[in-house]
Amino acid sequence: MYIERLKGYVTNLAMRLGHAPKACVVTFGCQMNARDSEKLLGILKTAGYDETEEEKDADFLLYNTCSVRDNANQRVYGRLGAVKNLRKGNPDMRIALCGCMMQEQTAIDRIRTGYSFVDLIFGTHNIFKFAELMCTLFQNPGGMVIDVWQETDQIVEELPVERKFSYKSGVNVMFGCNNFCTYCIVPYVRGRERSRAPEEILDEVRKLADDGVIEVMLLGQNVNSYGRNLDEPISFAKLIQQVEQVEGIRRIRFMTSHPKDLSNELIEVCAASDKICRHIHLPVQSGSDALLKAMNRGYTRERYLDLVSRIRSAMPDISITTDLIMGFPGETDRDVEDTIDLIRQAGFDNAYTFQYSKRTGTPAAGFPGQLSDEAMKDHFDRVLKVVQETARESCARHEGETDVCLVETLSDHDGGLVTGRLSNNLLVHFPGDESMIGRMYEVRLEECRGFYFLGSRTNAAEA
Ligand code: SAH
Ligand code: SF4
Ligand code: F3S
Repeated sequence: MYIERLKGYVTNLAMRLGHAPKACVVTFGCQMNARDSEKLLGILKTAGYDETEEEKDADFLLYNTCSVRDNANQRVYGRLGAVKNLRKGNPDMRIALCGCMMQEQTAIDRIRTGYSFVDLIFGTHNIFKFAELMCTLFQNPGGMVIDVWQETDQIVEELPVERKFSYKSGVNVMFGCNNFCTYCIVPYVRGRERSRAPEEILDEVRKLADDGVIEVMLLGQNVNSYGRNLDEPISFAKLIQQVEQVEGIRRIRFMTSHPKDLSNELIEVCAASDKICRHIHLPVQSGSDALLKAMNRGYTRERYLDLVSRIRSAMPDISITTDLIMGFPGETDRDVEDTIDLIRQAGFDNAYTFQYSKRTGTPAAGFPGQLSDEAMKDHFDRVLKVVQETARESCARHEGETDVCLVETLSDHDGGLVTGRLSNNLLVHFPGDESMIGRMYEVRLEECRGFYFLGSRTNAAEA
């Protein structure tokens, strides 16, 4: 086992340093990357590293990168520029890069030439080899170790995991994506869709529950197509029903739902459940049929709005959030108006709005009609304004309600307050202390502060 060998190297390093070496893992991107980082940190801690959140204190610094938009890439290059000096101050410091950006040859070439002080590069398909790669690093100090696979059909689990939160956890149900939306790099950097067997997922959820986890988020780029390619196909709705049976799990979330594959079966299962949270993230991307087609999304605005109304009639209290891309090639004023109209009709509770980012290798990068920066910003600003208005209105509608929340952290607004998350994903700050973290309480939503609430407990007991 490489982990045993790695422990040996880390012990030697600790003796030389006079203390356990420190590791810092910095995560960019989505929940999938966050979950991978928990696994990577799990391996580092098992091997004997102490965790630090400070890059400057790290003897081992790992950036788990994202390449979904260019600004995610630029942030990594920016951080690396600053890190060069840190490494000069600490000759034992080792720097590694992994994640989606490393699946792109152009990024690797740029790091090779411009950031030659980086020690290790690996990709998304071989994180299970991390302990082995770390051993290679210790064996060959100097030189850059690069191990990036183009594809894999393996799903290797059973890695030690260092969870960020004691009471909630992500659980991968599938990896990769087959949809090839024309703007998106994910299918190229994460590979083809692979579902995990239900027994493996359920085993993991049971272990998490035994370990005190009460909320799980089932993760995949398109959870609604879960299970189709398994030897014994099973729907996502059936999987979630099995997860519901796991004792100790009180809340279930999932992400992300592709609108084209969301089934009536799933709507029924959610509506009948008191564990599945009243929140669905349903990225629409655009309200214009022409653009939806050019994006290869596989639905029209009419079908999307029909889906929203079916979901709302089955679960009137559900919160629906979305993602929007503004400035896609060819986007006209009329398309922007269509998107604004769809936002109003769908009544989104919130939306993440992104400016289109050209990703090399994707079809849309070669589409005619790429927008100027000014037009892009204008479209983005117009939509953001409407999104903020609708989100505020939607939040305010809940004022005065009572609901159960799960306390996640001490509030960063004010000492003496904790932050709880409601089933519908809204946050509420209310008086409390650290002992309440990871527990559920009923709260009254006293005052809407834009996108969150100030509240108070209705009841001293846990809910
Ligand atoms: N699998 C999810 C989305 C994952 S990426 C889904 O299909 O719903 C998260 C979000 O990033 C997308 O929903 C999209 O809004 C945005 N995104 C992806 N590629 C982008 C690009 N090239 N430019 C701007 N935003 C992009
Ligand atoms: Fe990207 Fe589309 Fe796959 Fe989502 S469904 S990850 S947007 S290709
Ligand atoms: Fe980014 Fe990779 Fe997730 S590109 S959004 S970290 S799958």
